This record gives sequence, C-alpha cells and structure tokens, in this order.
Amino acid sequence: MTATLNLRFENISDTVSFPAIVFATKPAGEDKDIILSPTARKLDDAAGGVLKRAMDEAEFKAGDGSSLVVRAAEGTILLIGKNAEHTSARDHEDLGGHIFAAMGKARISTATLMLDDAAADQVAEVAHGAMLASYTFSHYFTKGEKATPKQYSLTMASAEAGKAETAFARLQEKTEGIFLARDLVTEPANILYPVSFAERCLALREQGIEVEILDEDAMRKEGMHLLLSVGQGSRRESRMVVMRWNGGAKDEKPLALVGKGVCFDTGGISIKPAAGMEDMKWDMGGAAAVTGAMRAIGGMKLKRNVVGLIGLVENMPDGEATRPGDVVTSMSGQTVEIINTDAEGRLVLADVLTYALRHVKPEKMVNLATLTGAIIVSLGKEHSGLFSNNDDVAEGLIRAGLDTGEKTWRMPLGEEYDKLLKSHIADMKNIGGRWGGSITAACFLERFVEGVPWAHIDIAGMAWSEKSRPTVPTGGTGYGVRLLTRWIENGA
Ligand code: BES
Ligand code: MN
Ligand code: ZN
Repeated sequence: MTATLNLRFENISDTVSFPAIVFATKPAGEDKDIILSPTARKLDDAAGGVLKRAMDEAEFKAGDGSSLVVRAAEGTILLIGKNAEHTSARDHEDLGGHIFAAMGKARISTATLMLDDAAADQVAEVAHGAMLASYTFSHYFTKGEKATPKQYSLTMASAEAGKAETAFARLQEKTEGIFLARDLVTEPANILYPVSFAERCLALREQGIEVEILDEDAMRKEGMHLLLSVGQGSRRESRMVVMRWNGGAKDEKPLALVGKGVCFDTGGISIKPAAGMEDMKWDMGGAAAVTGAMRAIGGMKLKRNVVGLIGLVENMPDGEATRPGDVVTSMSGQTVEIINTDAEGRLVLADVLTYALRHVKPEKMVNLATLTGAIIVSLGKEHSGLFSNNDDVAEGLIRAGLDTGEKTWRMPLGEEYDKLLKSHIADMKNIGGRWGGSITAACFLERFVEGVPWAHIDIAGMAWSEKSRPTVPTGGTGYGVRLLTRWIENGA
C-alpha cells in the first residue's frame, strides 16, 4: 500500500551530514583486511580511527547484510558490510534492502548514504532495493504504530546525482508494478473479488494500457464454460480482464501473459480443510503478477507488444456449484470431466489460454499460477516450477529469474504424465493420479496451447512468504513482476 521511504538524490560534497551511512567491504579471499569506502576512511581519519576501533571491538566482519552503528563525536555513522564480489544489479538492490533494514534496526529515520564514486545505475539500483524493502500494508490497522508506519528519509549522495535520479525514475515504475501486485495479493477476499479486482485494473489506463473487462455474458458468448464452471457456485460474478500494451511495431506479434485469478479458493464441493484456508485469498497471485507486470511494462514504456489476460473467479461450494463428475465443454471445444473441484486453476487458465490464442494470436505465451501444493513439496519456497514446450522460452525465463532473484526451476512434461489425464467419459479429467501432481497439472494446460511456444510457471510456493528477504518483506511478495519484466527487457 505504501512505501515508508522518501528518497532524494544529491551530488556528493566534502562536507558530510550526519547520520551518515558508509561502507566496509570484505575483499574476496580469507584473512584480507576490511576496506573502508572513501568517505568512511575520511571520517575515520578525521576522528582518530574511531571506525576501525569500533570494528575491532565489535569483531565486525563486514559480512552481507551486517551493520554497525558508531556514535562518533561528529555524529552517528552507520557502517554497512558489503561483499566485494557482489556487483550485479540484483546485488545492488539487495544492498539497498540491507541498508533500509539497518536504518530500522539502528532507529535512524533520516540519513545520508555516501555512495562516493558509484556509477549512476548502481546508485539507482541501491535506491530501488531500499524502496522495495520499505513496502508495508497498513490499511486495516486503526490503532498504534502499525496504523501510521514510521517514515524514513534517505539522501543518496553520489557523483552523478542527476543521472542516478533519471535511472531511478525508470526503476520506480517497476516498483509501482511490484507494489500493485503485493497489494492485490494481500487484500482479503471480501474486498478483492473478481469485480473489484477488474475495477482496479482500470487504473492501468493511466499508463496508456488498453483495459477491457469481459463479464459473464461476454464469456458465455466466447464459450468459456470451464472458467464459468469454477465461478458458478459463488455469489460473486466472474470476470476476465485483457490489458494491452502496444509498445512495439504494429505488425509485431504480441507476447501473452496469462494469470490465474482465483480470488478465493475454498476448493468448492471438494472442499479444503479449515486449517490454513485463509491462505487461499492469495490464490490470485498469478493474476496479480501479470497485472503488476503490465503496470511496470507500461510505466517503463517497453518497446514490445504485450497483452496481459487474467481469469478472475471465486471457487465456492453451493447448490449451484460444479459437482465432482460433471462434464464441461471448454472454449477450445475439448470436454473435461471435473473429478475434483479443487483443481480449479487449470480450468480457468485453459479457457483464458484459448481466448489468448483466438484473440491475441501471440508469438509466445507465459502463464503464472498458484496452481498446485505439490510444487511446494517439490521445490520448497526458493524456486517456482517452470514447465515449457520450448527451450528458448524456458532458458529466457530461467535467465531472467537468476538476474532478478525470482528464481525458477524447469520441470518435465511428457506423454507418460499426460496419459494420466484420460477419462472414461470425456476428452480428459481435470486431475491425474496421486503422484507428480504439478506435472499432470502442467500437462493439462499444455493441451490448450496448440503448440504455440509457451511456459507455465507454478508460483504456489512463491506468492506469499513468511520469511523476509532483503528486498521482499514478509507477506505478499509480488513474485513474477520482476521475472516477467526482466524477461521482456532481456529481449523475450
Ligand atoms: N490453489 C491451490 C494450490 C495451492 C496450494 C496454492 C497451496 C498455494 C498453496 C489449487 O487450486 C489446488 O487446490 N490444488 C490442489 C490440486 C489437487 C486437487 C489435484 C492441490 O494442490 O491440492
Ligand atoms: Mn484449488
Ligand atoms: Zn486454487
């Protein structure tokens, strides 16, 4: 909902204002002495070695994410540990996250970060990381500190402040997309349901994105009965949103980004156990990632045609709900026997993928979905699961994952798995057997992509996190926004 950080960019001068943040670098290799940044060295000399003494006393090792507060006579100095080998954009972002955390820990709300001769891009990346770390969602607290989160101010002092600020403005567009995705994931299902989610997408028109909302009648006309079958037990109407960014040439085939938007997943008639069911408010994490990515792509004016499509439904048990055993015809014409109404995400995605094929005619398609609990069993919470019918698409996404820290790991597809979807009454069942549940889910989706280069990313383990990371606080992570935007920036 809010960043709790205000940033300013300033040209570095000889006079240091306090509190000052400076760096101590641990060089590669053992037993090498810690190196102080230029301003740190200057402060240390001026104050008779106060920093070195403090580092010795605290046995400060300058490790990743470490910090040391030194109260010198001149003012407070916050020393941040930095690894000499960490030189990628992602490392710089993490460093910014560590700096924001260190300010919080030291209870320093205003400071100047002395970046000396760091390149403009690097300054912007550090600022971006600090900004991402400062995200909070305080909307529903009415009392105490949580209702009015503490504000922080950081001045980025560097040699090329103007250039750094320009580079940062572009990254700030990415931040807006990430924050939007985090907000959407965090909102409870009584506030964020298909109709209200779709309404929030309209704001993307400000970025020059065309936003079209399809209601149930429009989807019925398209024959999207699989998607509609998931939502039919809910008092909340289903929606699909199509978001078009025309940043490329007129004749360039677009990329399609497709998201699972199950605003709440009770399981339907195949109802889930009560414990932990509240987590299913973030079963729209794929749709949030696609919406956030579109916000970022439009804001950054990427030179590519990209269409985001999200299927928004609520999966509820009800007298009108789909029963196990029901047979439903998809938009593609293929029929599906719905054995388990809790395997609903693939039903929604199947019709949205078909809609994308018919109306967007994409060059490539990527879908994101909190699709299976089984992917968390397979990969834990470090990698999403990547399934693809195309090596270039797979490799591009894996690369983008490494570049951004939103890592993804390729999983298999294959006929042996696909066979498990055979039904005695229809073209397929919506679940395979007990084993390889993420793979059979992916095989189900593959039946709807008609050979177009495609990847499915199962983000069930990634959309929400109990553990904070340098640039990702606990809660809704916004996973996927950075991955998708970087994939496109890398030339998808
Ligand atoms: N939304 C769930 C998957 C999920 C589980 C996401 C845990 C995030 C955390 C999905 O709709 C679902 O219920 N999948 C079933 C599939 C099964 C019925 C074949 C599952 O994973 O148990
Ligand atoms: Mn489910
Ligand atoms: Zn689900």
